[in-house]
Amino acid sequence: MMLDLKSSTLSTPFARDVVAGLSQPRKVIPARYFYDRRGSELFEEITRLPEYYPTRTEIELLERHGGDIARLTGKRRVVVEFGSGSSTKTPLLLACVDPAAYVPIDISADFLRESAAVLAAQHPGLEVLPVAGDFTRPLALPRQLRDRPMLGFFPGSTIGNLDPAAAVDLLRAFRATLGDEARLVIGIDLRKNPRLLEAAYDDSAGITAAFNLNLLDRLNRELGGDVPVEAFEHRATWNDALGRIEMHLVAQRDLAFSVAGRRFTMAAGETIHTENSHKYALEEARLLARTSGWTPLAAWTDAQAMFSLHVWGAAPEQLQP
Ligand code: AVJ
Repeated sequence: MMLDLKSSTLSTPFARDVVAGLSQPRKVIPARYFYDRRGSELFEEITRLPEYYPTRTEIELLERHGGDIARLTGKRRVVVEFGSGSSTKTPLLLACVDPAAYVPIDISADFLRESAAVLAAQHPGLEVLPVAGDFTRPLALPRQLRDRPMLGFFPGSTIGNLDPAAAVDLLRAFRATLGDEARLVIGIDLRKNPRLLEAAYDDSAGITAAFNLNLLDRLNRELGGDVPVEAFEHRATWNDALGRIEMHLVAQRDLAFSVAGRRFTMAAGETIHTENSHKYALEEARLLARTSGWTPLAAWTDAQAMFSLHVWGAAPEQLQP
């Protein structure tokens, strides 16, 4: 038999994480692996779904409160975006804060190059300095930027994909990367009626289901898998105790498959947990800030209180009363 060396030796982080996750008593695959080319296209479709309110609501908040953001941050900051620059949101922020430079940070050098090029073309004269790296740890920014006031940007409620303890660690890393004078503009999805949440993550057109199931196609395509994709169903459920939407892939029968040269079995009804999306009350969001080296300066929500947009300032590292 021809052995695919790449996957059989678990040489990639993807292969290692998938095998580790599927070997746990409760199977998981980290949500960051949704975003191959197909997954990114499906996510773009999700953002246009009637049930998926976060994207359009956050854009509305950025449009409405650009002036307020500029007043709270001042102009000519270095804007540092965590995650590849999104097509519509970044220009909205850049338009209101008149940045001195724009620094997109992403672990995927490909996405980074693309989004940096697009942004640079839209903003002639703006200094664009992409940084390829893992923003989940404190990161050294390009030399020429040190000692310049920073404005972090973390839209999309991506923070919700982490559990609160990991979210605090991430926000502390942002604080370390951005320095003492920093501000942070962050989008955080709000707790709401579970029926609305479950609809947002299990839309009637089946796009979110396709997005979730695409992970299994990825295992087959990239890790030499033989997962019977048709034997799985998408499930999105609200976990009230933990304040989060969970996405799972549910086995519809007893089944077995190979991935990266390893054999796995599942019983009917067993699931692969693929994503958490934590939702916060406004006060919980503020507490997240204060637990991670930030001071809440302002927060806005839409009329339906679906989504929140926050401006935080770096808390001084000084003696407290
Ligand atoms: C943009 C990554 C935060 O949790 O809402 C959308 C991803 N997953 N539908 C979210 C997602 C299912 C999304 N994040």
